[in-house]
Amino acid sequence: MDNESIPKHIAFIMDGNGRWAKARHMPRKYGHKHGVDAMKRVIAACASIGIEIISIYAFSTENWSRPQDEIDELFKLVKRFADKELVEYAKDNYQVRFMGDLRRLPDDVRLSLDKISDAVKDNSGTIINIGLNYGSRDEIVRAVNSLISSGRDSVSVSDINAALDTCDLCDPDIIVRASGEKRLSNFMLWQAAYSEFIFIDDYWPDFTEETVNRIISEYRSRDRRYGGLKKA
Ligand code: IPE
Ligand code: IPE
Ligand code: MG
Repeated sequence: MDNESIPKHIAFIMDGNGRWAKARHMPRKYGHKHGVDAMKRVIAACASIGIEIISIYAFSTENWSRPQDEIDELFKLVKRFADKELVEYAKDNYQVRFMGDLRRLPDDVRLSLDKISDAVKDNSGTIINIGLNYGSRDEIVRAVNSLISSGRDSVSVSDINAALDTCDLCDPDIIVRASGEKRLSNFMLWQAAYSEFIFIDDYWPDFTEETVNRIISEYRSRDRRYGGLKKA
């Protein structure tokens, strides 16, 4: 693949874990567990084709409205993923970022995330960017408030870019949503200005390397014009 056809940044809205489990007459947590396995497959597939940034929406600011036992289960998986998998990614030179307001996360989870941030600080490889208690409106509000408290009375696009959780990442070239739903659910609203949207009917736990290849080939068929005219 030539350079232009490989996206630099791909973002995934994982979805359908619960429905995947339900179809198997299993509890929702079974779907979330398999969702973690899908995450590993997708990260490996993206990294192997040279994608530099992989963003994953793992827990939204709205997901707090789920039953407490599901929230507990999700954070148990997040902590396990950090302690087991992210530690290995750290050893393999991956960079790991988190976006979202981490202050609301359980203390033990925050501690695990801090350890990872420390372990990857000198790494230079593929970036895994995970959204936890992430909501795009909340991110924008936090950004604007931080600009206000730094004394600005007016702001530019680049000021806002620099104050977002994604400040040092380019905008996603592709935003993928699993499970056939066609909405952003408060994900990267600002950063999505010129992203290509790709909706996949498969539930997230069914995502494989082949799904990633399908996404890339769909992306390559798109004509990104950025408000200009089609390339000759
Ligand atoms: C995605 O799967 C995982 C999270 C949002 C944390 P869901 O849990 O939303 O699964 P469905 O959409 O109910 O099937
Ligand atoms: C979006 O999925 C949030 C994450 C993937 C973390 P949801 O399942 O929460 O979204 P809605 O409720 O269907 O819009
Ligand atoms: Mg869902």
